[in-house]
Amino acid sequence: MIPTTPMTPMTPLPLSVVDAEEITTLDDSTAPTTPDGSSSFSPNLRPQDDSSYRSVNSLSTAPFGAAAAAPAVRNVCCVGAGFVGGPTAAVIALHNPHICVTVVDRDEKRIRRWNSKHPPIYEPGLNDILRIARDGSRGCVFNDGPTNHGGSDAIRCETVSPDDRGGRCEGQKRASINSVAARLPNLVFTTDVAKCVSEADVVLIAVNTPTKRRGNGAGSATDMAAFEAVTALVAQHASPGAIIVEKSTVPCRTAQLVQDTLALYRPGVHFEVLSNPEFLAAGTAINDLLHADRILIGSNNTASGNRAAAALASVYASWIPAARIITTNLFSSELAKLVANSMLAQRISSINSIAAVCDATGADVDEVARAVGADPRIGSKFLKAGIGFGGSCLKKDVLSLAYLAETLVLPEVARYWLAVVEMNEFARNRLVSRVLQCLNNTLAGKKVTVLGFAFKKDTNDTRESPALDIIRALEKEGPEEIAVYDPLCTPTQMAEEIGHFAGPGVLRSNGGPVAVYADAYAACQGSDAVLITTEFDEFKNRPVEADGGAGNLEELPPNQNSALDAEDHLSRLNPIPLCDKDCPECQREHLNASTVSYYGTGNDDEHARKARLDWTRIYYHMKRPHWVLDGRGVLDIATMEHVGFRVESVGRRSRLTKSSSPGNHKCW
Ligand code: UDX
Repeated sequence: MIPTTPMTPMTPLPLSVVDAEEITTLDDSTAPTTPDGSSSFSPNLRPQDDSSYRSVNSLSTAPFGAAAAAPAVRNVCCVGAGFVGGPTAAVIALHNPHICVTVVDRDEKRIRRWNSKHPPIYEPGLNDILRIARDGSRGCVFNDGPTNHGGSDAIRCETVSPDDRGGRCEGQKRASINSVAARLPNLVFTTDVAKCVSEADVVLIAVNTPTKRRGNGAGSATDMAAFEAVTALVAQHASPGAIIVEKSTVPCRTAQLVQDTLALYRPGVHFEVLSNPEFLAAGTAINDLLHADRILIGSNNTASGNRAAAALASVYASWIPAARIITTNLFSSELAKLVANSMLAQRISSINSIAAVCDATGADVDEVARAVGADPRIGSKFLKAGIGFGGSCLKKDVLSLAYLAETLVLPEVARYWLAVVEMNEFARNRLVSRVLQCLNNTLAGKKVTVLGFAFKKDTNDTRESPALDIIRALEKEGPEEIAVYDPLCTPTQMAEEIGHFAGPGVLRSNGGPVAVYADAYAACQGSDAVLITTEFDEFKNRPVEADGGAGNLEELPPNQNSALDAEDHLSRLNPIPLCDKDCPECQREHLNASTVSYYGTGNDDEHARKARLDWTRIYYHMKRPHWVLDGRGVLDIATMEHVGFRVESVGRRSRLTKSSSPGNHKCW
């Protein structure tokens, strides 16, 4: 049994009119321009191992699939302009200036934002890539290596036509001068699904596949409504021979359903279906794309299946070393994605279960994790104990795997994976219990501050954020105030989402206790307890230089991918598209800057880097006994206690609040 709703023909999604001009100008996209073939300046955007680049047709070393001649890809269409589709398409376009990449979505508002200076998602480095691929860029010449592009090293900035670049590169190599030719836009965002799909050699389906909310399998099965609707649409419009790629995370064997849908709409027309799941983490998506540890491509093990896989591999081969492109059969690829996320979730739940044991025994979970993770068979990453995993993927994919097991009549397997989600809920609940324990079991008349609203650091993504559950649970205890602050989520965004999730009545503006702040100090002022619910560096009490590599979250790829000379020393960038006078995002920014819709004196610039908190300043404005509950293990407890705070941290020793006797460790 397959855990998906059978696909049936669907009415196509409503389409809107599009400006065809936008697309027809793209065929002139330039070829790679820098001497190494990269279209960027920064080492961050360069292939990590040029020597292992492979040619399009060299799949013979792949474990699955024979060497196959890859048809040239000229046009890629990505259906779905969300967290996956937008960044993936942007990086494909950046590294393949000869390919026209279109991103289509029926949501006009979202597309309008992608075409403006207000992209609908924030990822470090994304804007810089959009500026090049979407807007095109001017040619320029610079001296002495791509990183020395500022100040006097910059020789000249001018419009270098694509035709000029060959001779100029040759001449300049001899003189140690590099040039980057002008580049035409090759990334387009539009709502014209039918047109773009019909023109594409490769169609990526990258739409949302959340957990089903109602009906059969509610709460665990994957909701395939959007995926099914888009598949039907693609089936109707794709040109014969187009390669249809599952980018969305889907239940195992979905490729068969895609094939069936294609056959239903276009009997007798041949399409190859591939599985090419994404492995992007929020906050590091661009780094994950630029330096992917693997690209997984599942295909039919037939001659045409292998050819299709080789064609898609050729798109990635522009920047990913050949050894990192893994080919498998279709269903292995689909399942591997679910298993990858489930195993990440499993590690977090494992260490969180141990954190509870640490709290009850006096062991320290970070010490245990370090000792255990030193074994290379186990590894050190994803062993940071805390209030558990959030985000749109981990829980959803564990549930999907458990549902798959159930439908395959493997109840033991299903139970095993469901325990991972149960342990995650246990981890969240423990923080709320601990707050109550510290505050004498009542929040009446008290102020509690929640630092961190996003589900993880360096993102403003709040899907499945532990903070939301914690705010809701705290609100039920009737506190005087719950103050919420996040370095990346704007007060406006937080108010909207809390209102949506817990009901508008909980917001202070409607008489409830939840107040959103743009300033951490104002949020902590007069607080009885400060909770850390997201591992933002801003909340740490260690100096920045003392951080290097400590803790597993720290070891994730750095977010230094402002890779394309964001300050534009060489004047390479074209002007950002101007917004209409009535642009709602501009108006919202203006409104946020000029009205007091939130508390505190900070600004509402969602992506401005904030300095680390001055905990001593917070101490002097909090209520006694200065409780801080560190749900993410970001604080150095001894230093905090030296200031005078009383600190509780998940699974970590506190000199003041715990004795060495196991009997005293039951509060969590
Ligand atoms: C995840 C996968 O990492 C990514 O490969 C996949 O494509 C999408 O799902 P994401 O959900 O963006 O990415 O974030 P991730 O970095 O995996 O963190 C998930 C959650 O686990 C966060 O809430 C984070 O705070 C938490 N976490 C992570 C821990 O509690 N401890 C850890 O050691 C690591």
